[in-house]
Amino acid sequence: MASLQWDTKSGIAGKTQWWKDATIYQVYPASFKDSNGDGWGDLPGLISKIDHLQELGVDVVWVSPIFESPQKDMGYDVSDYQAVYAPYGTVDDVDTLVAECHARNIKVILDLVVNHTSTEHEWFKESRSSRDNPKRDWYIWKPARYDEDGIRHPPTNWRGYFASSTWTWDEATSQYYLHLYAPDQPDLNWENAACREAIYENTMKFWLDRGVDGFRIDTVNKYSKRQDFIDAPITDAQSPHQPAPEMWCNGPRIHEFIHEMYEKVLGPYKALSVGELSNTPHPSQVIPYVSAAAQELDMVFEFSVIRLGTGNGFGAKYEYQPYPLSKLKSLTETWQAFIEGTDAWTTVFCENHDNGRAISRFGDDSTPESWLQSGKAIALWQTTMTGTLFLYQGQEIGMVNMPPTWGMEEYKDIESRNFYFEAADSGDQARLERTRKGLQILARDHSRIPFQWDDSPNSGFTTAEAQPWMRVHDNFQSVNAARQANDPNSILSFYKYALRLRKEHGDVFIHGSFKLVDPEDEFIFAYLKQGSVTDNGRRKALVVLNMSREARPCPDISRAMKCRQDEVRLAVGTRGMDSDQTQLLAPWEGRVYINY
Ligand code: GLC
Ligand code: CA
Repeated sequence: MASLQWDTKSGIAGKTQWWKDATIYQVYPASFKDSNGDGWGDLPGLISKIDHLQELGVDVVWVSPIFESPQKDMGYDVSDYQAVYAPYGTVDDVDTLVAECHARNIKVILDLVVNHTSTEHEWFKESRSSRDNPKRDWYIWKPARYDEDGIRHPPTNWRGYFASSTWTWDEATSQYYLHLYAPDQPDLNWENAACREAIYENTMKFWLDRGVDGFRIDTVNKYSKRQDFIDAPITDAQSPHQPAPEMWCNGPRIHEFIHEMYEKVLGPYKALSVGELSNTPHPSQVIPYVSAAAQELDMVFEFSVIRLGTGNGFGAKYEYQPYPLSKLKSLTETWQAFIEGTDAWTTVFCENHDNGRAISRFGDDSTPESWLQSGKAIALWQTTMTGTLFLYQGQEIGMVNMPPTWGMEEYKDIESRNFYFEAADSGDQARLERTRKGLQILARDHSRIPFQWDDSPNSGFTTAEAQPWMRVHDNFQSVNAARQANDPNSILSFYKYALRLRKEHGDVFIHGSFKLVDPEDEFIFAYLKQGSVTDNGRRKALVVLNMSREARPCPDISRAMKCRQDEVRLAVGTRGMDSDQTQLLAPWEGRVYINY
């Protein structure tokens, strides 16, 4: 599919890869579609809904983990990479999914979770069986420390992601093992070459040989840890556990490991790769992962925008921090423009399974009208940005956060629950209240509730009698795919249109340069996209989004585009094409102007 084209961005002749123009759709399989009435989504359910994806204009489906797992972290704790968790289906179902998708020209990528396994994985069972087991070194084992009173302490003071120490004591062999996430998710030791080989063969080639097209690669920058295993500085005096990402993120051998993965697997198989790159907030750190010349990853997710509003990444993550629109704008510009003049590539996304819903965070879900308008504004924002676009299931119909009236019992996620109970245990009522409020905006649970297909009981996700594994949103009768498919003014219809427009003007929207207009404006998010040079000059688009509840003056279009008025036309507007006439942007109104 790759074709040799002039790369307008870098100014060098190079390969323009098909995946740069692709729209990728993330499916969270437990919550997408249940085919057998057990309340848990499954592969046959997903297969029955491929048409929905095709009608939307999706080119690639990313399926969150479906492998055998005790489900301590929703399948991000894999106990067998070559088996499918029975409630999802079978390996044959994956084959069918791939065949059905390929028949419609849609590719399939799986979630590759190889920073850690489950404690139930055979490798770990062997590793923990004795200190001289050949697989002992496939995980990270360290002796205890003892204080003057002879009390045992973990090897370091590091805090893990899910609000505990990163170390768990193994009574049988009298050592601690490392886990950046839950104690049920021990970290693999990438320093061990045999372990790396096993990962490539067992987890990657197995699925690529079956026809899968690539991977979303979980926690891709955590494979290389610093090897001195020292304490992190104390930055959270209230906790025995200290944030320590500098000890295990972007470590000394990380580029060597990822390049090896590329050379041995991703490159030869021409597999698509998108890595999850947390704690890496500087473009200069990101470029080495995604520069084409480096031969590591096709692209990564950088989290500065999607983490907006979270407290510091660790202890206070769920204590919500308000931020001005100008912050959202400047971060967007940084992570759009950083590839300009390089051979690197970027991604566009505002939702995934680890965050609250975009309308509830960046838009306004307080009334049906503000929901509709801000949902379309977000669609316009996402579909006009440079990079490979990722949509998350339900985003296309404007699904929103769980209602604030729902109690903690509706939150199932290990991270939400651990943060909540940590705050409760602290005895600090104010902190508990802040955490509860923060979870209502930011919790991972919001994106994990069942997809709203129609207005039948249980939203068409499962049968009427079934008990869905998470509660169906109260609003499913007004917010659902069936209703929106028949409504030309719906968020779903708008996404379909905007996705087509994105491809039609791919040189500007997908590949163009990005520059903010009025960076300081706290109401209007406006930016200029510039694409290829034609006989009439450079192709340009101006995107103006009113990100507020107030009507606001529209920026001066021809001035911002440096074009005459008669050279510019409205390409799309969230309020229809007549809005062009008015100098005032209605609340949450978005427009895109193009020169011709
Ligand atoms: C990634 C996943 C997240 C998971 C974690 C541990 O961040 O997106 O859902 O909890 O890795 O595997
Ligand atoms: Ca099922």
